[in-house]
Amino acid sequence: MNSLTRFRNACLCQKVDRPPVWLMRQAGRYLPEYQLLRARHSFLDLLQTEELIVEISLQPWRALSMDAVIVFSDILLLPMTMGMDLKFLEGQGPKFSKLIENEKELQTLKTHHPKEDVPFLLSSLRQLKKELKEKAALIGFAGSPWTVASYITKNFERVKEENPSLLKKILTRITDETKIYLNAQIEAGVDCIQIFDSWGGILSASDYFSWSGIYIKEIIDYLKPRGVPIIIYVRDSKHLLNEMAKTGADVLSIGWESSLSDAKKVCKGKQAIQGNLNPHILMNATPEEIGLQTQNMLKEMNEYPGYIVNVGHGVLPKTPVENVRAFVKSCQQSALSYQLKK
Ligand code: CP3
Repeated sequence: MNSLTRFRNACLCQKVDRPPVWLMRQAGRYLPEYQLLRARHSFLDLLQTEELIVEISLQPWRALSMDAVIVFSDILLLPMTMGMDLKFLEGQGPKFSKLIENEKELQTLKTHHPKEDVPFLLSSLRQLKKELKEKAALIGFAGSPWTVASYITKNFERVKEENPSLLKKILTRITDETKIYLNAQIEAGVDCIQIFDSWGGILSASDYFSWSGIYIKEIIDYLKPRGVPIIIYVRDSKHLLNEMAKTGADVLSIGWESSLSDAKKVCKGKQAIQGNLNPHILMNATPEEIGLQTQNMLKEMNEYPGYIVNVGHGVLPKTPVENVRAFVKSCQQSALSYQLKK
C-alpha cells in the first residue's frame, strides 16, 4: 500500500496495512538541514520563497520517510497577506506590529487573492505534489479563526467579554478568508487539510462551539464537496472532544494530555483519530523508550478503524533527530503485527 492510499484511508476510517505516521512541526528547528538554511535566511524569507518552502517541506521526508509531508508555511501567513505587518523577533517568534482594536481597523484588512498574494505557496504545493505523487500525502493547512484571532486582536483574552460583537466580526472575516485560502491549496493539489486550533483549549466546553467550532464547521462545510479529508487539531483538547466531533472533521487530532481511549468513545469508528505522543517525551526519552511508547499507542488503537500516529503538539526544537527516527520507525515496522482492517 502506498503512503497516499494509507493516509487517505486512515482519514476515512477505511482499510490500511498499518497506521500512517507524520509529525506536527516535522519541518523545523530540530533538523540540522533546517538550521543551515535558517542561518542564512530570515523566517519570513523562508516562508515566502518557493525553492526554500519546497526544500524545507521535503527535508524531514527525505531523512525519515513519513507517510505525509506538511507544507512549510505558518498560520500567520494569511493575516499577513490580508495586510497585517508581521515581524519575526529572534528569540521571541512572530508578532504583528499593530493589533486590531476596533471595527475601523478590521475594515482596513484586505480580501486576499491567493493567486496574486501567495503565488509562492501555491507553486510550492504544485511542485511538492509533482515530486511526491503517491509516495506521501501532501498536507495543506491554516489556523482556525479563533486561533488566528488570538494573534491579531488587541487584548484578545478580554475582548470576548468586553466587546463580543467586534470579536465575532473578526472571526467571521477570518472564516471567509480561510475558505478562499484553503480552497486554493486544494486546487494546487493538497491531499488533506489540517486546521490548527492551537488556542481552542482555553475555551470551556460550553463556549467552544460558539466561539471556535462553529467557524471551523463553516469552513469544513464549504470545503467538503472537494472531497479532501480534513483534520482538526486542538492542543488542550481533553474537555473538548465532543465539541471537536461536532465540527464534522474527518479526523480529530488530540493534544497529549487527552487520552486516545476517550477519543475512541467520542469518535465511535465514524471519525478518525490522530495523535498524541507527548512532545516532551519525544525530546527527553531514549529511542528505546520512544519505541515502546509508540507501540503502546498502536496497541491502544489496534482495533480502531481510522488512526494516524502523530505527536500531541509540534516537535520541540531540541528534540534529537534519532528520537524522531525511533518514533517513525516504530510505526513503519508495525505493519507486520498490524491486523488488516475490515
Ligand atoms: O512542519 C510543520 O508542521 C509545518 C510548518 C508549520 C510552522 N508553523 C512552521 C514554523 C506549521 C504547521 C505551523 C503552525 C503554527 N504556527 C501554529 C499552530 C501549531 C502550533 O504550534 O500550535 C502556530 C500557533 C503558529 C504561530 C507561530 N509560528 C509561533 C507562535 C511561532 C514561534 C514559536 C515557535 O514554535 O517557534 C512560529 C514560528 C515557526 N513556525 C517556526 C517554524 C519552523 C520556527 C521558526 C524559527 O525560529 O526558525
